[in-house]
Amino acid sequence: MSTVPPDLRARVDELRRLIHRYNYEYYVLAQPTVSDAEYDALMLELRQLEARYPELITPDSPTQRIGAPPAEGFATVQHELPMLSLSNVFDEQEFRAWAERVYRLSGRRDIEFVTEPKLDGVAVAILYRNGVYTRGATRGDGYTGEDVTANIRTIRMLPLRLYPPDDVPVPAVLEVRGEVYMRIKDFNDLNRQRGEEGLPLFANPRNAAAGSLRQLDPGITASRPLCFAAWDIGLFDGLPAPATHAGVLDYLRRLSIPVVPEYAVYRTVDEVLVEVRRWLQTREQLEYEADGVVVKVNDRALYDQLGVVGREPRAATAYKFPAIEKTTLVRHVEWSVGRTGKLTPIAILEPVSIGGVMVERASLHNEDEIQRLGVMIGDAVVVQRRGDVIPKVITAIPARRDGDERPIVPPDHCPVCGAHVVRLEGEVDRYCVNPSCPARLKAQIQHFASRGAMDIEGFGEKLSDLFVDLGLIRSLPDIYELDWEQIRQLRGFAEKRIENLREAIERSKDRPLERFIFALGIRHVGERNARLLAEHFGSIDRLAAASLEDLLAIPGFGPTVAQSIYEFFHEPKNVEMIERFRRLGVKVAETAPVARPARGPLAGKTVVLTGKLTTLTRAQAEEALRQVGARVVSSVSKNTDYVFAGQDPGSKYQRAQQLGVTILGEDDLLRMLRESGVSLAEAVPAS
Ligand code: IVH
Repeated sequence: MSTVPPDLRARVDELRRLIHRYNYEYYVLAQPTVSDAEYDALMLELRQLEARYPELITPDSPTQRIGAPPAEGFATVQHELPMLSLSNVFDEQEFRAWAERVYRLSGRRDIEFVTEPKLDGVAVAILYRNGVYTRGATRGDGYTGEDVTANIRTIRMLPLRLYPPDDVPVPAVLEVRGEVYMRIKDFNDLNRQRGEEGLPLFANPRNAAAGSLRQLDPGITASRPLCFAAWDIGLFDGLPAPATHAGVLDYLRRLSIPVVPEYAVYRTVDEVLVEVRRWLQTREQLEYEADGVVVKVNDRALYDQLGVVGREPRAATAYKFPAIEKTTLVRHVEWSVGRTGKLTPIAILEPVSIGGVMVERASLHNEDEIQRLGVMIGDAVVVQRRGDVIPKVITAIPARRDGDERPIVPPDHCPVCGAHVVRLEGEVDRYCVNPSCPARLKAQIQHFASRGAMDIEGFGEKLSDLFVDLGLIRSLPDIYELDWEQIRQLRGFAEKRIENLREAIERSKDRPLERFIFALGIRHVGERNARLLAEHFGSIDRLAAASLEDLLAIPGFGPTVAQSIYEFFHEPKNVEMIERFRRLGVKVAETAPVARPARGPLAGKTVVLTGKLTTLTRAQAEEALRQVGARVVSSVSKNTDYVFAGQDPGSKYQRAQQLGVTILGEDDLLRMLRESGVSLAEAVPAS
């Protein structure tokens, strides 16, 4: 048996702590302080050490999130403390009645309430024993749930071991209760990907979360973008628990456990109602689905004292949002042609206001969905709109038919260019076969110019439609060879606009390779796969020359993805297109980052910027600091080495003073950058 040198043991511990911290910054705060590459390097180092010394592997190591074999079925778990449910109220009057009862039964009126969103997901109980994640279970019927330990382990937001700050004690047994859910954007991406792969779509984020959590193979769960947010504790043994509910949430937060967003404490019913109205108004903009606001009595002793009716504690209630569903009529069905030529049926509706927004179109997804809904033209249908999801038809109401309804017939010719439409065997969608169909081109250009791709500012749907209709763009590379003389003649194109557009187009030539690959719009190549391809091959030429085997060798790439990429680069038209991009000056290879020796006064230092800088922008300063090996973080802690304060510094300055962190000025920053080898002409481009 090998013995592990103590310094390696310490290094493994350090790596796990660092990974824990960067995970939290990335997944919970959405404010990473290190690059993906740095994070990956730490993971790799940890994996290598664990491979060399397997005795170092513990179940709470970040390398152990995935790896449990598929289960035969789920074991059951008895909840020692039952997981209760919530009563509902649907309007202000009902809410006031609920609060009145709380006042009456407690004989008090000085009661604080906590408000928080009611997340639409799956309730789970997560157990930490001595600070180590040991079990995850679904709520089930409140008394008995399913053991989903291996699946919950794959949720990146959730720490597998707690690293409490020195002044935060952790009980021997800590049960965290909360919701596993999926963000709307992630849900849409997942469904889009499933659509492309011909898999059935999830009806809503909640179903997607539930379906992902109840996979017998944790590997599948790991591939799904699940989130977690705590809304309570259950077991809490060996220590007194915080006295208030807000105290519980604050406590969990200090342990890096993600908690319900935007919880707040109020002292009166009127204040709570102001907050509920705010939620009602902003619910459409949320990143996640919430079906109400939960209001809880803050004082936990009083909460318990108020007791339970049936399965519902008296001290909490859910103020439910009104449904965002309406009934309307399908006037006719349009088939829209996307970037890949895919035809999507769109129900054109009798306009109806849903949750304050006029809805005239709703997606019917594909022919199978039309079949499933049994919907016809002229039918009354229920339409639903949630968050930023495209409105959709959720049911047809055949009982309201009058005999004039007509079946929805999928076209056999492209509604835009008239070319043939095919439905490939085993696929749910039809495709226009014409690669230069104007509808496809327009959608391709929009995708190419979009934010996550080449990011050409000001180049949206209107412009791509116009340029295609005028014949100014016939293929993607034409974007870089526009006839500006002709554009100058168009209405609405003043010199300034042309100037801005030309500059935006010029700037886009220099995007990282992964963006360019993504921008090409290869089927099954989203942002993630594009990044993997760029990392793996480093240049378009090497990617284009890849064999199917090469592509299949990339972790996570299956035959569908590999085949699609391979075919794309073996289509002569695409080869020609990439050649043209290259000739026009678009960057098609990764340029290696300039390696600078990480020495000098700032190397390895953690720094914070505050206030306004005069000689360089915030972004330039951050970039320069990173180049010389400093870590730029957004808040001051005792681990901060320097705070650089410009003009009118904010609260970070005060915090630095309180903590005794060294505060320096802009001059010091410039000097230290120079000493680290940055020539300032580089940091400050002539403007
Ligand atoms: S408290 C005793 N808080 O709603 C009440 N529940 O109807 C314990 N839920 O099973 C639950 N967000 O799945 C609570 N902020 C929140 C919640 C929340 C969502 C769900 C949870 C629970 C159900 C109760």
